[in-house]
Amino acid sequence: MRFNQGKAGTKTSAFGSPGRINHDSTAFYTSKLYEGLPKEEIIEYAENPVPSNFLDKIFCKTSEKMEELPDNSVHLMVTSPPYNVGKEYDENLTLNEYRKFLKRVWGEVKRVLVPGGRVCINIANLGRKPYIPLHTFIVEDMLDLGFLMRGEIIWNKASSGSPSTAWGSWLSAKNPILRDIHEYILVFSKGMFKRENLGRKSTISKEEFLEFTKSVWTFAAEPAIKVGHPAPFPVELPYRLIQLYTFEGEVVLDPFMGSGQTSIASIKSRRHYVGYDINEKYVKLAEKRVRNFCLDFNAPNLFESEEKRGRQKWREGV
Ligand SMILES: C[S@@+](CC[C@H](N)C(=O)[O-])C[C@H]1O[C@@H](n2cnc3c(N)ncnc32)[C@H](O)[C@@H]1O
Repeated sequence: MRFNQGKAGTKTSAFGSPGRINHDSTAFYTSKLYEGLPKEEIIEYAENPVPSNFLDKIFCKTSEKMEELPDNSVHLMVTSPPYNVGKEYDENLTLNEYRKFLKRVWGEVKRVLVPGGRVCINIANLGRKPYIPLHTFIVEDMLDLGFLMRGEIIWNKASSGSPSTAWGSWLSAKNPILRDIHEYILVFSKGMFKRENLGRKSTISKEEFLEFTKSVWTFAAEPAIKVGHPAPFPVELPYRLIQLYTFEGEVVLDPFMGSGQTSIASIKSRRHYVGYDINEKYVKLAEKRVRNFCLDFNAPNLFESEEKRGRQKWREGV
């Protein structure tokens, strides 16, 4: 490598290092700070196919048991779980019961992911008096299950319509209240960080890579009315994660599929999907939205074909 010839690489130092060239961070990663946290293991890669009759399907059942999916068969999980806040599909669980329920799903996700498979959980925090930091509890539970944390994306959704106006005490220090204009996307890996491409293609463009590797993402939320589901995320959210974390043709799982946004993002980026939702109404909605998306997505671009026809005629001298 030309840039580093004849020079030792940089090292973690008391004052940090100005640039990182062939950086040796062993001192940092073997420090006591990492004691007790899940460690990367070198696992032999194993991958089992999802049976073809279960691919690109949404199952109407709880994702606490995903027996349709073999061990080591999914490459990425993207989801936004039910929040246990009284929506029609929510149960009135205590925080402990809620965490145990989610942990059963995350445990199943771990079983079905390939070694190095990625998990992305979109979550917002709740309440004010006091604030419930759901994202902290989920991180704790994921670490407890042995997942390796890769990072945390702050989704800035400030540009969405109808921002909260619950200020608390207006222009007074009596009790001003923070208005969350963000949600989290918590990112983990099973067992190891790296994945080999196994001859598969990455489809992310240079511009997308530069943008999607930033830890703050800015785009608007999806209006519930438009989609017909109480809590959809925009297709942009799973699309970015799929482009960043999977190769073409791989399998994306959403254990809480809702209106089908993860399926649509998977089709858009030429990946397979598999999903679960306990509510039949939402499974039907998702299937309908997927069908409609496919009609548009596969329809020939009339302008382009006109143009192509024109070019063809020109070549033939007509
Ligand atoms: C926050 S919504 C997901 C919305 C989805 N991301 C979208 O864009 O439409 C959570 C979904 O989880 C479903 N759900 C609740 N409990 C479930 C369970 N035990 N297993 C599978 N799905 C469940 C609900 O019916 C709801 O559609």
